[in-house]
Amino acid sequence: MDPTTGHPYQKTNINPLGKAVLVTGGAGYVGSHTCKLLAKNGFVPVTVDRHFREGLVSYGPNFNLNLPQEVNRLDEIISRYNITSCIHFAGSTSVPESVADPSGYYKNNLIGTISLLDKLIECGVTTFVYSSSAATYGDPGLNKCKESDVCRPINSYGATKLMMEQVCRDYKTAYGLSSVGLRYFNAAGADPECEIGELRDKETHIIPLAINAARQGKTFKIFGEKYNTPDGTCVRDYVHVMDLADAHIKALNYATLNQVAEVFNLGSGAPASNKEMIETVQKYTGKMNIEMHDNRPGDPAYLVADITKVKQILDWQPTQSSIDNVVSTAVQWYNKVHKKEIQ
Ligand code: UFG
Repeated sequence: MDPTTGHPYQKTNINPLGKAVLVTGGAGYVGSHTCKLLAKNGFVPVTVDRHFREGLVSYGPNFNLNLPQEVNRLDEIISRYNITSCIHFAGSTSVPESVADPSGYYKNNLIGTISLLDKLIECGVTTFVYSSSAATYGDPGLNKCKESDVCRPINSYGATKLMMEQVCRDYKTAYGLSSVGLRYFNAAGADPECEIGELRDKETHIIPLAINAARQGKTFKIFGEKYNTPDGTCVRDYVHVMDLADAHIKALNYATLNQVAEVFNLGSGAPASNKEMIETVQKYTGKMNIEMHDNRPGDPAYLVADITKVKQILDWQPTQSSIDNVVSTAVQWYNKVHKKEIQ
């Protein structure tokens, strides 16, 4: 039991000289990988999250806190750790869910973020890094997306992220908040040391579902084969979660040293179709049964990043995002989590 939090985690070694950073959603997928890297880089990630999985490895103090309902509890946490910056991951992240439940998405992603931002400003926090998404671009055709492109989201998830970006620009002008929004393309893979990885109560993402189908002898459904793409299936840009973590640290430093309200694409820049992805998964898991199904509502045909801007300004490069590394680390993590079933 961790005495700081009263939760059953592994005890953390907190660096007393490290600079504390508030991390909302630090127990989630991209959040937990970023916390690991923050700690490695001498920061103290102070995580607030509404759900901590049993056995989650922790890299700093954790607080079980429900945003926005319990936003006032941040007063004490921010002052206790002298926090002046925040990385905001907390939010809803599934495209199909957002199509079915726009109300939940606007409340959680947009209203939740605004109430967090107001609290941060009241408490003197000046730097904000947050998860945006490639879903802001909508359905851009067979072109790589640039940050300067016009964004026309086609699902509520993308719309909430685009609105968050606008809120951050306005908060810079009015309140001097410095921010960087990171438009993730398809976050994938897992910590190569296999301490943490992708684990959700309700999974909708292609890689974990495909690994699960192969391992459990289930049929995998590919959604759509008549898209206007080279092989007819959707094309995505998979970026390794450790590369994403690295970008958050660079973004944090950049937004601390400069007063900005910027957004950056985070992708590998390399297109992979759903068929190619399933072939790669089979390379690491063995064959699975595959069925072609109708398109999934809210899915754009092609979403691939132009990463020129983030390379130039943040000096960030994806170094772990080859499709093989993405899939093999995801399979390694799956095998660890499902060890009992596999043996
Ligand atoms: N897919 C299948 N079968 C499945 C699951 C997914 O064919 O069982 C397909 C989807 O239809 C889509 C592709 O695999 O064409 C990728 O789907 P995911 O659900 O894995 O990911 P999305 O592209 O929908 O969304 C992800 C993130 C979003 C982010 C988006 C940006 O979840 O947060 O990438 O590219 F906005």
